[in-house]
Amino acid sequence: MAGSHARPPMDLDRDLEIDPAEWSRPDTYDLVTALVVPRPIAWVSTVSPGGHRNLAPHSYFNLVADHPVHVAFSSVGVKDTLRNIRATGEFVVNIAGQPLLSALDATAADVEPECDEFMIAGVTPEPARCVQAPRVAEAPAHFECVLADEVPVGNCILIIGRVVHVHVAPSVWSRRRVDPAALDPTVRLSRRYGMLAPVFTPEESPSPHVLAE
Ligand SMILES: Cc1cc2nc3c(=O)[nH]c(=O)nc-3n(C[C@H](O)[C@H](O)[C@H](O)COP(=O)(O)O)c2cc1C
Repeated sequence: MAGSHARPPMDLDRDLEIDPAEWSRPDTYDLVTALVVPRPIAWVSTVSPGGHRNLAPHSYFNLVADHPVHVAFSSVGVKDTLRNIRATGEFVVNIAGQPLLSALDATAADVEPECDEFMIAGVTPEPARCVQAPRVAEAPAHFECVLADEVPVGNCILIIGRVVHVHVAPSVWSRRRVDPAALDPTVRLSRRYGMLAPVFTPEESPSPHVLAE
């Protein structure tokens, strides 16, 4: 069945009903990345076998298991981050708060593999506890990961990491848990950035007691 619109209209005067494969890749990208929002951003640090540090943001990212803890992000094609993870089997997900937004954004630049993106971003590499990849010292939280699996999906490669170490700074901790307002993470909305909306629990919500949903 033909879709309702061959391309994104300026204004939508009737419902959009499409097979996303019928749209160009940029148009489909704009559509779906504006609907899956907000996306957390994994600021992934790696090191090459030759010792070159690498840092890059990935918003196709989420927690995918909590026992043992696994996170996953997608590499759109083969990039330095993926090459380093394949070579070393390790990476760090740095959780960047709003003060690090400009630095994070700077590391999306397409640069030579030898180029130290910690330098480009003006952030400090510090040793991780359990992996060779460095942490961003200024980030308030870190997941140190070992590669568990990689799965090709469409034009992407899904990287699944087992989290072998978690670090949280005291500045984002309150009353036995991470305080989302203090963490104040950078999030992705369409091609733009955003912040966390106000955090609340609906009255009568069962969710605080539910571990597996
Ligand atoms: C906020 C943001 C989110 C991004 N998310 C992704 C992503 O999920 N996957 C991806 O492959 N590239 C993503 N990119 C683009 C990469 O960061 C960019 O291609 C980078 O140069 C890759 O670096 P590398 O070659 O050092 O791995 C994103 C860029 C920005 C600014």
